[in-house]
Amino acid sequence: MARIVSADDAVRRIPDGATVVLNPLPLEEVFPAFGRVYQATGSPKDLTVVWSAGIGPFSDEPRGLNHFAYRGMVKRLIGGHFGLNHSLAGLVAENAVEAYNLPQGVIAQMYREVAAKRPGIFTQVGIGTFVDPRVEGGKLNERTRNCEDLVEVVQVNGQKLLHYKPFRADVGIIRGTTADRLGNIGEDDEAIVMENLEVAIAAKCCGGFVIAQVIQTSDEPLHPHHVRVPGIFVDYVVVAESKKSHPHTLFVDDDPSYSGREHTPLEQVFQRMPLNLEKVICRRAAMELRAGANVNLGVGIPMGVAAVAHEEGILDTVSFSTEVGAIGGLPEGGRNFGPAKNPTAFMSQAHMFDFYDGGGLDLTCVGLAQADREGNVNVSKLGSRIIGCGGFINITQGTRKCVFCGEFRAGAADIAVDGGRLVIRREGRVPKFLKQVEQITFSGKFARQQGRDVLFVTERCVFRLAPEGLLLCEIAPGVDLQKDILQQMEFRPIIPAEIAPMDPRIFA
Ligand SMILES: CC(C)(COP(=O)(O)OP(=O)(O)OC[C@H]1O[C@@H](n2cnc3c(N)ncnc32)[C@H](O)[C@@H]1OP(=O)(O)O)[C@@H](O)C(=O)NCCC(=O)NCCS
Repeated sequence: MARIVSADDAVRRIPDGATVVLNPLPLEEVFPAFGRVYQATGSPKDLTVVWSAGIGPFSDEPRGLNHFAYRGMVKRLIGGHFGLNHSLAGLVAENAVEAYNLPQGVIAQMYREVAAKRPGIFTQVGIGTFVDPRVEGGKLNERTRNCEDLVEVVQVNGQKLLHYKPFRADVGIIRGTTADRLGNIGEDDEAIVMENLEVAIAAKCCGGFVIAQVIQTSDEPLHPHHVRVPGIFVDYVVVAESKKSHPHTLFVDDDPSYSGREHTPLEQVFQRMPLNLEKVICRRAAMELRAGANVNLGVGIPMGVAAVAHEEGILDTVSFSTEVGAIGGLPEGGRNFGPAKNPTAFMSQAHMFDFYDGGGLDLTCVGLAQADREGNVNVSKLGSRIIGCGGFINITQGTRKCVFCGEFRAGAADIAVDGGRLVIRREGRVPKFLKQVEQITFSGKFARQQGRDVLFVTERCVFRLAPEGLLLCEIAPGVDLQKDILQQMEFRPIIPAEIAPMDPRIFA
């Protein structure tokens, strides 16, 4: 039966060299205990830490996954996303740890393979991108170059696939709302749940143990249908001292509309986006929304597409989902990416990625840091800045229509929308349309082979991925083809005889 222990007691039980698999939610009661216990005792050390999604805090503050940024405590990181956790990403950049970045969906799904002792995941996800061992194998730094390959290319039924090898799970760390006396975990007031159950079963099947952080305990047994992680998979329960150490997200302690505890009238909380570059991009992307479509929005600028849909009164005609498991409602943007206000349903991230990988999405709008003439896109690495792919690889490879959304150049541009036109006062310092991207997070070649419908939406023009490469198909009012587009990119796109204007309503 599960025992209630303090966070420090739970962490003291973790042996050196263990593989710790985290459900990456704000576990601000359990996670800080890692640094405290390690600094006091020198253990646990040489850990392998595995997680799927990045959770912040978008800085080097000791919160979120930064609680694992201790040299010596961690030997190897296997993660889906790094860039939101600056201290952790710093350890990688300094070669202080071995580090692999694998697609977020692959990690979320892998726990089931680990639990059932299957040989890993065989999939097309990642082919031609930096996780493909013929490119970089997902290895993030020099220190990892000579380490074992976690991904290999195999041939199955005449088809080339990537084989992601399974890892051990010695300790699983999960989070819920309530634990009853049997250690059954309920998730009634969680903003998202990700892979609680999958992580717990994986750790138990590997002979390991599971630590669950909750905000309350109940002497009454939970209704069996409300138990999300059965107590047979839970060894230690840590009760958070307050909502501060058990917040809904790292940026919002408590929003009852996330978990379904209350329905928030959106008109009371919704703030219209100002008419800036971001809104122009989101308005153009929103024109790709179709009634009845299943749509995913990626982190960054594309999250504004949901806000535009709300402004245009079409939010309820489209079904938005976030890969971390919230369906419907108004997905949150900015740093608070993940939950939605007034969601209609929740599911685990592993199942969500089954749906996404299987072609369940009609449309995705995702970020754009760099693109090249082949239609390759990079969002995962900029110079020495390690960002990571997150769900980008799964989502863009599995979805029929991909709209990459981003400003045309990066770095302190001064561009306004005025009088129905774009006015470029100062160009951004850094070109984003390059001869060759720094890292391939989306393979233009693979997308063309698959016949995907791909658009690149910027504030000043729109490109389509054609069989021969990037084709310029729309241009914004007020923009000069030569000066504002061709001279501001590193390659010449395909230019048709006639280029359509971007819809003037976008700039009104
Ligand atoms: C690539 C990504 C960082 C773009 O973010 P965004 O908010 O949409 O776009 P922005 O243009 O505002 O870029 C964010 C920052 O990166 C910088 N940036 C973007 N492209 C850049 C480039 N090519 N070179 C240098 N800097 C760049 C911007 O200048 C900006 O910097 P700032 O915060 O100092 O102003 C974001 O989409 C991301 O993290 N993607 C990876 C994960 C992912 O997409 N998962 C998908 C499913 S969730």
